[in-house]
Amino acid sequence: MLEKIKNTTSFLQTNYLKDFTPKVGIILGTGLGGLATKIEKFVEIKYSEIPNFPQSTVAGHSGKLVFGKLGGVNVVAMQGRFHYYEGYTTQEVTFPVRVMKLLGINYLFVSNASGGVNQTFSAGDIMIINDHINLIPNPLIGKNMDEFGVRFPEMSEPYSHELISLAEKCAKELNIDVKKGVYTALSGPSLETNAEYRFIRTIGGDAVGMSTVPEVIVARHMQLPVFGISVITNIGGSGKKDSHEENCRVGQSAEERLSKLIINMLEQL
Ligand code: HPA
Repeated sequence: MLEKIKNTTSFLQTNYLKDFTPKVGIILGTGLGGLATKIEKFVEIKYSEIPNFPQSTVAGHSGKLVFGKLGGVNVVAMQGRFHYYEGYTTQEVTFPVRVMKLLGINYLFVSNASGGVNQTFSAGDIMIINDHINLIPNPLIGKNMDEFGVRFPEMSEPYSHELISLAEKCAKELNIDVKKGVYTALSGPSLETNAEYRFIRTIGGDAVGMSTVPEVIVARHMQLPVFGISVITNIGGSGKKDSHEENCRVGQSAEERLSKLIINMLEQL
């Protein structure tokens, strides 16, 4: 695995990046790829052209790495991410995070679409993730990669308090309403039953989704500060039938606010 991570990194550096060093890695969730169009592009590379990269199989995830400037900062954005439910291991899902770290990022920003279980939330809300509950296999299972981090990384601050404060300050300045809460990761791809939504609420989740937590665990293994943000696309157990297409539509309606917030944060990093 380590060899593959290093090979992919040097492939990108040698063939595409030369002296370009990304400072922030951004993972764009389902229906949230629009932020990538705001990047002043240095280069973009399809996943299919990157050795050892998994390929995205989900509609709404276009599958490329975009390098360039956003909010005055050098970034690398993943337009399209990988999910455990696609059949990848969580080690494969998080491979790009390892590569981004070796490319030089100092921060990881992650976004996703999720179902709200906190009854004070509404569809279209933006939730700053302040903690998570992981109910899918941990990506650090297996031999520890000591080059990246310790065997038992601690998880008392998976989401950087400093970045959360910055996000709250930016949201206030921009007059964007934000919630805060705990993201729960389940495997999917079936959406939750009403009983499962109640279970998630009972154990302390505010939102539920099928991504993000593996990437965050791997980032924290490497001591990268993480900022996580979620668009609440539906309210779990509300009696309305969930649909992936409707979730993508609501995600897109929040994208403008999400993009503004992230760009404003980057400007103040
Ligand atoms: N459950 C899981 N994942 C999701 C949901 C949901 O209700 N909405 C968007 N992603």
